[in-house]
Amino acid sequence: MINVAVLGYGTVGSGVVEVIETNKKDIERKIGASIQVKYILDLRDFPGDPYEDKVVHDYEEIVNDPEVSIICETMGGMEPAYAFTKKALSKGISVCTSNKELVAAHGPELIHLAQSNKCNYMFEASVGGGIPIIRPMNSALTAEHIDFMMGILNGTTNYILTRMDEDGADFRDALKEAQELGYAEKDPTADIEGYDISRKIAILSSLVCGHYVNYEDVYTEGITKITADDIKYAKAMNRVIKLLAVSREIKGKLFVMVAPFMVSRDHPLYMVKDSFNAIFIHGNTLDDTMYYGRGAGKLPTASAVVADVVDCARHIGKCITILWDDEKVELTDANKLRSQYLVRVPASEKAAAESAFKISEVVDAGFANEFAFVTEEIDHDEYEEAARKAGSVISRIRLV
Ligand code: HSE
Repeated sequence: MINVAVLGYGTVGSGVVEVIETNKKDIERKIGASIQVKYILDLRDFPGDPYEDKVVHDYEEIVNDPEVSIICETMGGMEPAYAFTKKALSKGISVCTSNKELVAAHGPELIHLAQSNKCNYMFEASVGGGIPIIRPMNSALTAEHIDFMMGILNGTTNYILTRMDEDGADFRDALKEAQELGYAEKDPTADIEGYDISRKIAILSSLVCGHYVNYEDVYTEGITKITADDIKYAKAMNRVIKLLAVSREIKGKLFVMVAPFMVSRDHPLYMVKDSFNAIFIHGNTLDDTMYYGRGAGKLPTASAVVADVVDCARHIGKCITILWDDEKVELTDANKLRSQYLVRVPASEKAAAESAFKISEVVDAGFANEFAFVTEEIDHDEYEEAARKAGSVISRIRLV
């Protein structure tokens, strides 16, 4: 019997219990043993809930029970998740988590701790929700030198941008809907300011090189400045605006950034809508691959946690190889990454903008009082320099 404990009976934690109960037969066949949720840790009681008898309030009861071999940490945040995870791993109890905040900050330490205690720290659900991406990184893609990744890795912002694009929805209303659907973090700032996606691309970049990419070093812009008028320009250009995470190795230097981009209709990420995520990966011999699925939400995220539970149950007393040490990677200044920009200036500044920028195309989205254009490919420092010369810029968005 595999006894599992779930820490945190919120959106993902309750999903984990539901996935285990719904797919029990399949899961048991794949493990070759029976499985049960023995404990649910939460501060609250859940009277009337079918699993109310499993709810406990004291973590010691779980971590000191020798029958518990796997813990699902679905609390989120740093503490007490960090302390609970360390305690479990040091006792040889495997931990499966959706907590990207903790993985991005302490992944190497927790993996090392697990390996020293012959158990596993697994985090498939921390990136891309239900999309299998961590496991491919650690197994199917190990023959590759991965030099480029670009993805939509946040369900909340993709949902918001899709509603703004398709329904003309207001930013705040779309955010409220995303929260109601269980996509958003407790504090949506992490989603809309891009911190959540920067943690995810830092985790993937770390797995690619095997060292520690600090999410705090990732150049990050969120979507809070995107307006309905920007969306109108995107439509006029046959594009959609997406919050993208990019990790690119150029001549041995690693650039990692998060920013809104205008994505062209012929790009594979154009069709990724609502809470769906996708990650596009280029390997030197494999060429392009892409992974797609529900990037957020209760059951998809829980499914990824439970897939890790199955893996841990199949490897009791054995370590699953994850190469990720704590050597810090120095990122190269993302301002040196080149792209084209859509730039909007007041019509009165047209002459100044024309002399400051090399313009590849003028864009008309029906705004008589504006002059808008696409620049030639430049890096961000060059953009800033030209923008200073041009005077006032209403908005600018990169193109891909
Ligand atoms: N808030 C996250 C998102 C949850 O919207 O993608 C899944 O990581």
